[in-house]
Amino acid sequence: MSKSRALVTGAAGFLGSHLCDALLGEGYSVVAVDNLLTGRQANLEHLRNDSRFEFRQLDINQPFDVGKVDYVFHFACPASPVDYMVHGILTLKVGSVGTFHALDIAHKYGAKYFISSTSECYGDPLEHPQKETYWGNVNPIGPRSVYDEAKRFGEALTMAYHRYHKVDTRIVRIFNTYGPRMQLNDGRVVPNFMKQALRGEDLTVYGDGSQTRSFCYVSDEIDGFIRLSKSDEHLPTNIGNPTEFTILECARRVLAVTGSKSSIRYEPLPQDDPKQRRPDITKAKTLLGWEPKIDLETGLKMSLEYFKKAAFEDQGTRK
Ligand SMILES: NC(=O)c1ccc[n+]([C@@H]2O[C@H](COP(=O)([O-])OP(=O)(O)OC[C@H]3O[C@@H](n4cnc5c(N)ncnc54)[C@H](O)[C@@H]3O)[C@@H](O)[C@H]2O)c1
Repeated sequence: MSKSRALVTGAAGFLGSHLCDALLGEGYSVVAVDNLLTGRQANLEHLRNDSRFEFRQLDINQPFDVGKVDYVFHFACPASPVDYMVHGILTLKVGSVGTFHALDIAHKYGAKYFISSTSECYGDPLEHPQKETYWGNVNPIGPRSVYDEAKRFGEALTMAYHRYHKVDTRIVRIFNTYGPRMQLNDGRVVPNFMKQALRGEDLTVYGDGSQTRSFCYVSDEIDGFIRLSKSDEHLPTNIGNPTEFTILECARRVLAVTGSKSSIRYEPLPQDDPKQRRPDITKAKTLLGWEPKIDLETGLKMSLEYFKKAAFEDQGTRK
């Protein structure tokens, strides 16, 4: 018998699909919704015969209702730079209209609510590392604003439903996460490097590669979500790996893990590309007893089989 029923929006995506696995593991039954804009049904294939799991293909920008749920996990949104640049208007729409619909479900059924926000709320940060109290340095009209401002609006709306409608809400600010089920061609650093290294192509580094990122392995990230979902914290919480790498260092790790002989090729830095990004996770540590356990090299090794399959069998490629 399931203890509770959870709705996951964006369930066929990278994080949504891993979250479905974790929620089933926690004893929930799960109703998963997705319009397959950037996600793939293959990510949920292994759950097809689980009687506690149900998939509905629908666009959450249209009003929808899946019946009574106890928890709403709102993860629908194109998340990679390639995707949100192609689907700019839809990204703003799902961050606004779609988020209204997800919150309305939580409000209607008295369900708890959890929104996936992002480190992009900090923009090109002037404070380093980034604490949750930092308000960010975001260009509201630049090419990345379709994503950054959609996510900032999603946070504002979530806090408004909490304050005005007393919805029991949580906000996670996710930092770069990687692992199996990522799309191969989504423009994010790890899949890009893994694909290029495995196929023997040059690894593309933008700028001089000195810009830094911190990479969190997906199982650590999901563990943080589950812990936050069980807490009473309504204000945003950073979940990410604070160990910082330059992009160049990351490229070298990928070459080592894949055993690839590829070279590194330098290209101009895209507009508004953040120079550094690293979470301050003091809050998550203190409040949730959470910190990541898997270092970059181990995580890359754990992802290698998936990326090999994706790179050579053309799985994981965008439609
Ligand atoms: N992966 C990361 O490193 C990262 C970092 C920060 C924040 N996030 C956030 O986490 C969430 C999930 O990201 P992801 O990496 O899994 O991305 P993803 O693209 O793999 O998954 C997003 C899913 O949402 C679905 N979707 C988009 N619009 C929809 C709509 N209107 N109706 C129904 N479904 C819709 C897509 O089809 C896709 O399956 C996003 O909200 C993203 O902003 C992710």
